Amino acid sequence: MLRFSHPLRRDGLRGLIFLAITAASSTVWAQTSPAAKVDPLVDSLTLRQKIGQLQQSNAEPKTIADISDELRAAIREGRVGSFLNVPNPEVANELQRIAMTESEAKIPLVFARDVIHGYRTIFPTPLGQAATWNPELVEKGARVAAVEASSMGIRWTFAPMIDISRDSRWGRITESFGEDPYLTSVLAVASVRGYQGKEGDPTSIAATAKHFVGYGAAEGGRDYNVTYIPEPLLHNVYLPPFKAAVDAGVMSIMTAFNDLNGVPASGNDYIIDRVLRREFGYNGVIVSDWDSVLELIPHGFAEDKKQAARIAFNAGMDVEMVSTTFQENLFSLLDGGKVSESELNAKVSRIIDMKRKLGLFEQPYVSGDPEKAILTDEHKALAEQAALESLVLLKNDKQVLPLARGKTVALIGPLAHAAHDQLGSWVLDAKKQDSVTVLDAFRKILPESKLLYSQAMYSSRSRETDFSQVLELARKADVIVFVGGEEAVLSGEAHSRADTRLPGTQELLVRELKKTGKPLVAVLMAGRPLALNDVISEMDALVMAWHPGSMGGPAIARLLMGDAEPVGRLPVTWPKVTGQLPLYYNRPSSGRPAEEGNFTQMDDFPLEAFQHSTGHKNHYIDIGFKPQFPFGFGLSYSNAVYSDLKLSKKTIGVNDTLEVSAKIRNSGKRPVTETVQLYIRDLVASSVRPVRELKNFQRVTLKPGEAKVVKFKLTKDDLAFYNQQLNWVVEPGEFHVWIAPNAEEGLQGQFTVR
Ligand code: GLC
Repeated sequence: MLRFSHPLRRDGLRGLIFLAITAASSTVWAQTSPAAKVDPLVDSLTLRQKIGQLQQSNAEPKTIADISDELRAAIREGRVGSFLNVPNPEVANELQRIAMTESEAKIPLVFARDVIHGYRTIFPTPLGQAATWNPELVEKGARVAAVEASSMGIRWTFAPMIDISRDSRWGRITESFGEDPYLTSVLAVASVRGYQGKEGDPTSIAATAKHFVGYGAAEGGRDYNVTYIPEPLLHNVYLPPFKAAVDAGVMSIMTAFNDLNGVPASGNDYIIDRVLRREFGYNGVIVSDWDSVLELIPHGFAEDKKQAARIAFNAGMDVEMVSTTFQENLFSLLDGGKVSESELNAKVSRIIDMKRKLGLFEQPYVSGDPEKAILTDEHKALAEQAALESLVLLKNDKQVLPLARGKTVALIGPLAHAAHDQLGSWVLDAKKQDSVTVLDAFRKILPESKLLYSQAMYSSRSRETDFSQVLELARKADVIVFVGGEEAVLSGEAHSRADTRLPGTQELLVRELKKTGKPLVAVLMAGRPLALNDVISEMDALVMAWHPGSMGGPAIARLLMGDAEPVGRLPVTWPKVTGQLPLYYNRPSSGRPAEEGNFTQMDDFPLEAFQHSTGHKNHYIDIGFKPQFPFGFGLSYSNAVYSDLKLSKKTIGVNDTLEVSAKIRNSGKRPVTETVQLYIRDLVASSVRPVRELKNFQRVTLKPGEAKVVKFKLTKDDLAFYNQQLNWVVEPGEFHVWIAPNAEEGLQGQFTVR
């Protein structure tokens, strides 16, 4: 085993010994966190003003007239350092004017908001953006969001959300980049660069890597639920995206609601101080989630607000969002020596440093012109491109797609003309009139005589069962396009689902539509993969559109009509049924790995298997072990053929670089854009390793008949992992490597590490 210090770890063995002692405890750190450098301005502040910088309040006023005298006094006396949810530049500038002209310290306020996938021009939800596998496009989307939000006075966003999500019952999977640490890390960096842009630029907004850490592992996929993540798994899967964001210069990190192995993340000095500050070397701002400091009490981790404040403060929390335990208790905690003023100074310095980086001391007021910045043609075009590349073609039997010109289309379903719902979760400032729906788009493409439309049901949750009129309309068409799925409110925060099938009676509608005998194309908008086991056979073609944002309609219409190619690839494993969850590709083998039996109903199960060992496998007797669609999967309108896998060596030393290449050829009649994926497997190690791990990907576009050789390099950082002792190691032995179109297929090679 070769052990070497991985960038995640700064101080080698000492750190390791320390880890063993304090991993789960909540010791109070006496000394100031290592990254502290105190801003000279801090010394001039009173205790009151210092503590005030730690307070982030939710801005209630909607107009200047709404600003209460109490709020004016709080700002004047320096009792608040930032606001979230200030609604417009007028209110922002008035609050700022009070801070800059009436307060003593004259420290600018900073205004924050959840600009998760666009401000007014709404991009696909992050899960949809992840399906593009296009970091440049994700970065551009974040930049558009920053330009629009900053023009309205927002200089801090609570994004990117980079929680690894392996259970699509969890409503917040829609806000994530999916299940894979590598893809999530790449897109985390792209988002941070997009939001923050150039330091001091007035359109730069502070990004927030959230929710630190492990929130996506909520047991049962139930939001806010407990999480149990063993140290090696935490370091190998859940922490890497945050380390990537830190290395990309993310200006803030938000702690999570969940308790991690018994210690709530927002009071967990191990993950905040030990991992984030000392291992990652992070010296930016750490902000709590909404009331997550106060929630240490219902967690049963603090008996009252004073203890909650002490625990969170000493764990390393800088900014308390909404709850006021710091404001109410830090004076007495300082007085009693339970917290240190040097630590307070370090916190205030980090907050002031962020405000300086944003240029707020020089330019505290909103200067942009929203009219010029928002919903520009360029922004809408980018949102349409992102929506287009987020679409994943999952099924296309009998080449039903693309739709032939001249055919009559029956556009049917609750989300075909859903201006609000196509935007998805976390669209605080979007206006549905900005949306272009699927129906709007088809009306621009097809003559009226060739386009029939019915919403079919009031909403995606509708229990409607009488579809007689809809079917009559469908029978007049040459092809049916069903647009259904989940309306926006069925995913997102606090919206986990125990049953992830199509909601309401949509399955019944799909069956009835299929009975007309017409080709049936299903386009699904949802915040998660939907369990389609009982209905997918009715669909001749299937496109996953996630929640595609403002320009989802034109993107979908262009794809269905063949005016664009499908390039999306799944960022999550797609289950057949909810009962398979959690389900993810980079899983250990188990001692009895299931190999065969991809059946879909109990009666498909080969009963004789019960008598033989073939039945004693890691699978379900009623649904087998395979997902509906694997991670990384997506079809095109053409066909990419993989061949000629080549490895530069059969055996390498740990410090060697291995080159792996393959030829990708377009054997079809249309262009193809293929996301070529590189996976490895460490066959034998001191910890069981996943049967596959994504280590890189490249996009290649091929004309019909064209072929290209795609090359990758593998180095020790790609082969290393955290072992049981949390050493970052490469262990000699056999490795498999794939160049593949998804996590289940591909060209497999083998090499040895000496
Ligand atoms: C919410 C979310 C968090 C968001 C914050 C502010 O509860 O958990 O992601 O940024 O509160 O709105």
